[in-house]
Amino acid sequence: MNQSNDLMGKIVSLCKRRGFVYPSSEIYGGFANVYDFGPLGSLLAKNIRDLWIKKMVQEKEDMYLIDGSILMHPKAWEASGHTVAFTDPLIQCPVCKKRFRADQLEGWQLKKDNQTGQWNILKQGSLICPDCQGNLIPAVKEFNLLMATEVGSVAGEKTKVYLKGESCQNVYLDFPLIRDTMAAKIPFGVAQIGKAFRNEITLGKFLFKVREFEQMDVEYFCAPEESDKLYAEWKKIRFDWYVKDLGLSESRLRWRQHSSEERIFYAKDAWDIEYKFFEDFEELEGVHNRSDYDLKQQGKFSGKTLDYFDPISKKRFVPYIIECSGGLQRTFLALLAENYREEMVKDDKRVFLKIKPALAPYKAAVFPLVANKPELIQKARSVFNLLKPELMTFWDDIGNIGKRYRRQDEIGTPWCLTIDYQTLEDDTVTIRDRDTMKQERVSIEDIKNWIREKLE
Ligand code: GAP
Repeated sequence: MNQSNDLMGKIVSLCKRRGFVYPSSEIYGGFANVYDFGPLGSLLAKNIRDLWIKKMVQEKEDMYLIDGSILMHPKAWEASGHTVAFTDPLIQCPVCKKRFRADQLEGWQLKKDNQTGQWNILKQGSLICPDCQGNLIPAVKEFNLLMATEVGSVAGEKTKVYLKGESCQNVYLDFPLIRDTMAAKIPFGVAQIGKAFRNEITLGKFLFKVREFEQMDVEYFCAPEESDKLYAEWKKIRFDWYVKDLGLSESRLRWRQHSSEERIFYAKDAWDIEYKFFEDFEELEGVHNRSDYDLKQQGKFSGKTLDYFDPISKKRFVPYIIECSGGLQRTFLALLAENYREEMVKDDKRVFLKIKPALAPYKAAVFPLVANKPELIQKARSVFNLLKPELMTFWDDIGNIGKRYRRQDEIGTPWCLTIDYQTLEDDTVTIRDRDTMKQERVSIEDIKNWIREKLE
């Protein structure tokens, strides 16, 4: 196994062992490529979402947050082109029935018509099934990725609807409501964190490609002539998010521009932020100038005009949209890949997550030195109760202190507080730092400020 596969294996194992990510429906043998966030993962995911909202909404004055429903009018997906063009090229092995994306098979070259969703074969490659070595038939099907369900209570009168293929679509439908209810002046943006569902053909790589995931989207509405300038500004904001806010290393991030063939026909420009998760650079977020296509299409299909009247220039226009669409699961995975650390401490292997304290699931852990001394337990409980209302704090009185440190290191808890015999005399505790393993004594009345300062 090479080093990066090895790292992926270690992360998958850590995620399950320590309650970050569980395979969905495990008692039924699992449900392929669907995952649950466990207790630790839910906290990490929440911290990512909260920080994203703080940076993209709270610290800006022209951004509005919405939380749209998963189900929408089915016409919206016709308007967006998803019912026709949201396709991948499918080849199914007639022997083992395994399904593959033709464009990912050895030697194959295909080109998609982004309007019709049709895939044209430019070059036919290997016809050997990568899984069973059986013979493949070169019949490529356009496989639509949308997931459908039905609504309605009367049998036989149900309407086919779609789970969101991309989270952003209801931002476009809500545009006139947001414009009017918020008296929003262009340029302004809408932020939304929402679920998306895709019938992906090839999955795997843990959280990287899954059937159900969350997207963290900014849809920024602007005048057409301002879109290039604002697009450049949003590219910078989004790159800074990964480096400055999340702490990913710049050397593992890069920009990749869509080629003219890859770029969707209506986009004015399209770049992806890629991250070197393990071996290769892969997409983390798309930052695209989508022109006025989305609002025009939804306007055409709904019969409403989705435009904006600029009171200063007295001009009416359909706004351009700059979209920044990142995946929560991929961000989560990137944070684990970036921050997983192993080191030898004497003869013992120490695993720790060197994640930014603001993102760590628990900020502090409180340990009574021993579990059988009521006065120590009582004092430790008072420290725990002091911190708990303000910070996610973990209580642990099982095993020796060394083992408790290791358990917290593995889940990224930045500070472990031990209540010992000296605490009973002078009201101080030891605070041990996850990264340096150094300890200092801090008075109980200063702990909150001490942690607050470090968190800033
Ligand atoms: N509205 C634009 C849009 O949906 P996308 O490139 O298809 O664009 C945006 O998706 C982001 O969503 C990607 O950059 C990735 O982070 C995430 N994403 C897409 N498909 C995914 C999948 N199957 N599993 C996990 N994350 C996915």
